[in-house]
Amino acid sequence: MKRILVIFSHPALQRSRANRELLLAISNLEGIRVHDLYQHYPDLLIDVKREQALLAEHDIIVFQHPLYWYSCPAIMKEWLDLVLEYGYAYGPEANGLAGKQWLSAITTGGAPESYCEAGYNSSPLLDFLRPFSQTARLCGMHWLPPFVLHSFHKLKDPEALRRCGQDYRQLLLALRDERLSPAQLAGVDYLRDLLEAI
Ligand SMILES: Cc1cc2nc3c(=O)[nH]c(=O)nc-3n(C[C@H](O)[C@H](O)[C@H](O)COP(=O)(O)O)c2cc1C
Repeated sequence: MKRILVIFSHPALQRSRANRELLLAISNLEGIRVHDLYQHYPDLLIDVKREQALLAEHDIIVFQHPLYWYSCPAIMKEWLDLVLEYGYAYGPEANGLAGKQWLSAITTGGAPESYCEAGYNSSPLLDFLRPFSQTARLCGMHWLPPFVLHSFHKLKDPEALRRCGQDYRQLLLALRDERLSPAQLAGVDYLRDLLEAI
């Protein structure tokens, strides 16, 4: 069984609907640990050694967050800047993260059709995730197809939101239990495209 660490970033969880639903769906699952960065570090003073020790205990690192200005909330950027240091995450002798898997789990306001050349976001969502996928590669990690909950504001129906949470849960469990082969994972752009395969 793979050990999963969900590094969660949301500056106002009390106002969240999408991320809160996703978190609820994956709470209390064996082998899946949620680490809420704003809860642990409300002053943004990140304990680098503690974070690196936590990473060492896990195989799959999930970065769950809302998309903010085509990127991540501020604390996750701070976390990346501090924790992925030279000699640990990258550099000639570095192997702190080598072989681990990186999964971005992202909620967006924009609808899927807005993420293309003709849409108001001008580019596919995957283009905006390039800084993350390349960071993963530089650190010797395997980039997994991201889990995306699109068009959040249109998702008024609580049942539809609940189903998204269940999709997330099913997919994390499949990753934990290694029920998705490397070939399957390499064959899709988005993790949800594998729902029928599990
Ligand atoms: C500061 C800020 C920046 C945002 N930037 C984007 C963006 O670049 N693209 C997008 O699709 N949605 C954007 N949104 C919408 C959020 O992604 C959306 O509200 C969030 O994913 C919903 O999740 P929640 O209910 O957990 O907060 C932004 C929202 C805020 C507050």
